[in-house]
Amino acid sequence: MPAEPLLALSGVTKAFGGLTVVQDVGFDLPRGGRLGLIGPNGAGKTTVFNLISGVYPIDAGEIRLDGQPISRLPPRARVRAGIARSFQNIRLMPHLSAVENVMLGQHARAAGLGALLTPIAWMPRGRWRREAEELLAAAGLDIDPGEVVANLPYGIRKKIEVVRALAARPKLLMLDEPAAGLNPAETAELARFLREIAAAGTTLLVVEHDMGFVNEVCDRVVVLNFGRKIFEGSMAGARADTTVREAYLGAEAADAA
Ligand SMILES: Nc1ncnc2c1ncn2[C@@H]1O[C@H](COP(=O)(O)OP(=O)(O)O)[C@@H](O)[C@H]1O
Ligand SMILES: [Mg+2]
Repeated sequence: MPAEPLLALSGVTKAFGGLTVVQDVGFDLPRGGRLGLIGPNGAGKTTVFNLISGVYPIDAGEIRLDGQPISRLPPRARVRAGIARSFQNIRLMPHLSAVENVMLGQHARAAGLGALLTPIAWMPRGRWRREAEELLAAAGLDIDPGEVVANLPYGIRKKIEVVRALAARPKLLMLDEPAAGLNPAETAELARFLREIAAAGTTLLVVEHDMGFVNEVCDRVVVLNFGRKIFEGSMAGARADTTVREAYLGAEAADAA
């Protein structure tokens, strides 16, 4: 019998005000897999992330993590079940330092209701802080961990957001356009870091427009167009697929119009 996938979507459907933006989407993500979720702008990629993390309820279908249905759990419970994500637009606390932002990610890991209600200041600070600083360093972030995030360049803030998600020690790490706005050197460095995370056992689900980056990081892709899955397979297969090519060309033509 094949091993249970870490994440399994089947028949996932979502409409906003009569407009179906995700329709009958299904895919499996095996434990330790690195799946790229790609497609033109507006294809429904971020919405799929929002449905997995519980920002919105699904209208139909099922989402399973480790074989357990999670589609009716509140977002908090999904975090505790092992899902962490970053957002397409940076959502760090700008007035807090880099290390404090990472510590907010660690906080999601503290189990039980009591811990959830515990202010971050009450945590055994030394140990958590040291681990957060080590995570920043492992990500190749050569910054003063005490620097306030608002003062740091965009590329660095983007990466801190990945580190914060990782600090929850998720089983599944979902990243929404992590390379957007990064320069080529930063992009290559982020790809290296993500491969390292994956090699250490974290399963990755990555939305990204930079196809070189997807090719570097992911072992498989699912392509969405107008909310439907139009391809699943290798990156090379996606590049060669006529339907996928037409979807991207169609989107380019629409953007140019
Ligand atoms: N909360 C929402 N309310 C209404 N429409 C939404 C909402 N979120 C996303 N959409 C619509 O769903 C479609 C898919 O959006 P999105 O998932 O952000 O696409 P992608 O991330 O692939 O660019 C778009 O047409 C978008 O306008
Ligand atoms: Mg998006």
